[in-house]
Amino acid sequence: MKNDLLLRVARGEKTERPPVWLMRQAGRILPQYRAIRNSISGFKELVETPELACEVTIQPVDELDVDAAIIFSDILVIPEAMGLTYEMVESRGPIFPKVIETANDVAQLLKGEAAADHLQYVYDAVALTKKELNGRVPLLGFAGAPFTILAYMVEGKGSKNFSAAKKMMYRSPELAHTLLDAITESTIAYLKRKVAAGADLVQIFDSWAGVLSMHDFRTFSLPYIKRIAQALQPLAPVTIFAKDAFHSLQEIAESNCDVVGLGWTMPVETARAQLGTNKVLQGNLDPCVLYADLPEIKKHCTQMLKTFGCHHIANLGHGVNPDTPLDAVKCFVDTVKAFRYDDN
Ligand code: CP3
Repeated sequence: MKNDLLLRVARGEKTERPPVWLMRQAGRILPQYRAIRNSISGFKELVETPELACEVTIQPVDELDVDAAIIFSDILVIPEAMGLTYEMVESRGPIFPKVIETANDVAQLLKGEAAADHLQYVYDAVALTKKELNGRVPLLGFAGAPFTILAYMVEGKGSKNFSAAKKMMYRSPELAHTLLDAITESTIAYLKRKVAAGADLVQIFDSWAGVLSMHDFRTFSLPYIKRIAQALQPLAPVTIFAKDAFHSLQEIAESNCDVVGLGWTMPVETARAQLGTNKVLQGNLDPCVLYADLPEIKKHCTQMLKTFGCHHIANLGHGVNPDTPLDAVKCFVDTVKAFRYDDN
């Protein structure tokens, strides 16, 4: 591998600067992405066509010179493989025409290897991208955390208060656990095959972790994330990004994960105080800092890098907003790449 900085940091090595990549780097911030996107039928065609997924995965490596590629896909391929089709509605986001309501709905879902069998297009995209990258940078694979996936399967779309998902958790906890277990088994089978196809690291996105109380996070989310991390860690470094689960940072750090992802509302000093200077952390600039002018971006970014110190993977605290100016994204990446721990 020509640039293995990310892998070295994920394994706990000290390096001269942190590696940098951005969540959602493959997407609408890039004119090359928008051009391809406008020439095809829709988002799912990109995800399901390995040649196209490969092309848009490599675009940010070419354009931004980031230290990692993340395979172009979506967390919602798992519910689809289990039997619940999603639609990506232009400027609204994902919608599930049919949602999970009853024990019978859950019983009809595919799980484990049977679900993972339906995602050959992802493994093909990973294998092709790995080949095309030709060792330039590591390739990240990912999946949603079971709670975040359950939320989509039960709500049918994004939500403000997740009342349908929480109703299931409070009224039918056993059903919620049966569904979480099925998602977990499917996700483990899926991520193992992604690693076998060539993913060098895996990241678990619990995007909606922050809507749960500490007790509910530890009941309905963390145990399932732990099972996935435990199954995957022998195969590849694992990052857990449970956004805004402040209350359980230590428990996350102790769950067979190599890297803990932080949202931007988590103070770096607090995370370091809880987890120590040797735990590898990823994040966490507010994506909206990239709306500032370039000197201001540089200032915020440098301050962040100094506060984290080494054992850090530079990233935003969530996905880059699609309307972020490209020169702002480049300024963020270039600031990290010019930084040296020795000078600071
Ligand atoms: O560059 C990368 O990070 C890789 C690609 C990636 C996408 N989705 C592509 C995408 C990744 C890692 C995801 C994960 C994902 N998908 C998450 C977890 C991360 C997070 O942001 O919290 C979630 C919650 C989803 C579900 C999802 N997919 C939503 C809510 C949306 C609509 C929001 C939006 O930005 O429009 C998507 C669509 C989506 N997934 C797009 C991209 C590039 C935009 C679709 C388009 O091009 O029209």
